[in-house]
Amino acid sequence: MPDRILLVGMMGAGKTTVGRLLADRLGWGYLDSDAQVTRATGRSVPEIFSEDGELAFRKEETKALTAAVSGAEPMVVSVAGGAVLSEANRALLARAGIVVWLRARPETLTKRVGDGAGRPLLGDDPGAALAALYEVRRPLYESVAAVTVDVDDLSPEAVADRVLSGARLGVGLGFGRTDSDDSEDRRP
Ligand code: S3P
Repeated sequence: MPDRILLVGMMGAGKTTVGRLLADRLGWGYLDSDAQVTRATGRSVPEIFSEDGELAFRKEETKALTAAVSGAEPMVVSVAGGAVLSEANRALLARAGIVVWLRARPETLTKRVGDGAGRPLLGDDPGAALAALYEVRRPLYESVAAVTVDVDDLSPEAVADRVLSGARLGVGLGFGRTDSDDSEDRRP
């Protein structure tokens, strides 16, 4: 198994903040699939959605994800919320490293995304959109994750602690013990 941690979860779950923290702590590289899409296309995510539609965005997302997990360097990758919709992406993620689901209640996500600016799928009612998306995606996150961390009441630092302890227990990655507790779910 390569030294790679892949963070999945809904918009607003904290993948970017926690991903950067983890990469800093581990001294690993950091990639964000949305940022990779923007770099590759020269357009923002909302621009791609409005000019070419979601399907075009999903194709770019798969390319970005494939590139993000093909390097030899140890890496933390924040995987945009909708990437798990594709079975091919899920298979890619599962092969690419340890997949960690940052699980948040829809109410937590709603608070965090505010008016949903910059998030084309959230429309005029982010709370309703997030609840509907979560219903569809929850089993997909569940199916791909080796470790699940409930983030609702935790600071980013505490989430990072739990990701590290879960990842270490899950696949024995080559980093040392952390002092965090080991209460998160683990799947075989
Ligand atoms: C999306 C999540 C966003 C971005 C796009 C679509 C989704 O990324 O890719 O707005 O379908 O959940 P984040 O999860 O990083 O916010």
